Amino acid sequence: MTTRVLSVASECAPLVKTGGLADVVGALPAALAGQGCEMRTLLPGYPAVLSQIGAGKVVLAEDDLFGGRVEVVAGRAAGLDLLILRAPHLFDRPGSIYLNAGGQDWTDNPERFAALSWMAARIGAEGVAGWRPDILHCHDWQAGLTPLYLRENGAATQVKTVMTIHNIAFHGLAPASSLDALRLPRWAFTPDGAEFWGRISALKAGLMFADRLTTVSPGYARELMTPEFGMGLDGVMRARAGVLSGILNGIDTEAWNPATDSAIVAYDAPPGKAANKARLVQEFGLPAGDGPLAIVISRLSEQKGLDLLIGALPQFLEQGGRLALLGSGDPGLERAFLDLAERHDGVGVRIGYDETLSHRMMAGGDAILVPSRFEPCGLTQLYGLRYGTIPVVSLTGGLTDTVISANDAALRAGVATGVQFTPVSVPALSDALDRLIALYAMPDVWRKMRLNAMAHPVGWETSAADYAALYQRLMTDG
Ligand code: ADP
Ligand code: GLC
Repeated sequence: MTTRVLSVASECAPLVKTGGLADVVGALPAALAGQGCEMRTLLPGYPAVLSQIGAGKVVLAEDDLFGGRVEVVAGRAAGLDLLILRAPHLFDRPGSIYLNAGGQDWTDNPERFAALSWMAARIGAEGVAGWRPDILHCHDWQAGLTPLYLRENGAATQVKTVMTIHNIAFHGLAPASSLDALRLPRWAFTPDGAEFWGRISALKAGLMFADRLTTVSPGYARELMTPEFGMGLDGVMRARAGVLSGILNGIDTEAWNPATDSAIVAYDAPPGKAANKARLVQEFGLPAGDGPLAIVISRLSEQKGLDLLIGALPQFLEQGGRLALLGSGDPGLERAFLDLAERHDGVGVRIGYDETLSHRMMAGGDAILVPSRFEPCGLTQLYGLRYGTIPVVSLTGGLTDTVISANDAALRAGVATGVQFTPVSVPALSDALDRLIALYAMPDVWRKMRLNAMAHPVGWETSAADYAALYQRLMTDG
């Protein structure tokens, strides 16, 4: 029997993306199609999304939702079956999907994503154009109110809900005074419901009212239950441990395939990297040299721990290391990396977001650095494995679950794929970079690590089967 699933999210690659959430939401439908699941994706009607679905067909509408008319438009784009929430008063805005021109959250973000969740719950209750989901799969706080609205509209007994945490740092908070305006029931505004220290938390609503919870790695599933990583919701996570599972993200192994990637000099074994490395060194204006070329492709935020790299870098450069960084985000970090590039020949920095360049970097780099303070899953270390670009990662969340560190045991067994370090500190990162230099200087060991990395399974097969099994259990056991 086919399971019909509506995936509800604020981003979806390749249509609209600010981070890994989009990659995962964009990949799930195809990954699950082979597992007997029919998935459609409900997205906000940002201009960039609407322009890609053409005229589409209106399948559901509401005259006044949070200040204007909204329509759900069915369409297809990039191989995805989409339901788009056309609501010009909420989504027809230039620039970033979450932030205004001043870099602040849009003040009506609670309403914007409550509208998404409200319509998701209506689709659950009423169906659209003869299609009614068995399961609503909600991603992050933007879809967090869906299970609560579904209870309120009476459909929660027939339609099940799954809430996936991609990042527990973002709670989707709104003032208590917006309870009525957001059409939320007063009974739900308690510590056992959507209340979080006197405010409404869309994420907490999802965590409390969804039938099942998942997060994007087993490691992060364990960490979420601790005060260090739970961001104030660790008690909730412990209380709901019985319905929580960690399912590792995969990557699109066709879009990220070094043997066929049209953005690079394609290769199917590590030696093929040489031409890409030479190109990258030139592109970033770096000096020639025998040392490893490290890359970073990342949002520049506190989460990613890249401030530590600033402290650890001089020692790495002195030993012949070089760095090419592509990122954007925190203005202070952007400036700090641009300063570093001015002061050190061995550092090249591009501030911005550039998908094609990210492929060239993945192909040309020797190692990718991911020193995150927390990392629910992380995708760039997975691209690194696929391209034989050795991940140097902190021992946290999904980074723990995806990299086999080159300790003595792993080297002896010939299974190492990367370097892990802990704690997340400048000395520990410096030590990891020293290990990278040493490993790189042993060509046989290095080559073996690269071959291991490239052979490591990073696709969706196992995880898609895990999601399908979760849906199945939910349908049969409730
Ligand atoms: P997060 O979602 O926390 O940012 P992930 O590692 O899960 O971290 O996903 C980040 C995604 O965004 C990856 O696909 C990565 O390649 C991409 N990315 C991040 N920064 C940039 C950038 N400046 N240019 C191009 N791609 C980027
Ligand atoms: C979040 C996390 C990242 C994860 C991504 C996709 O953005 O920060 O670790 O890979 O979601 O699940």
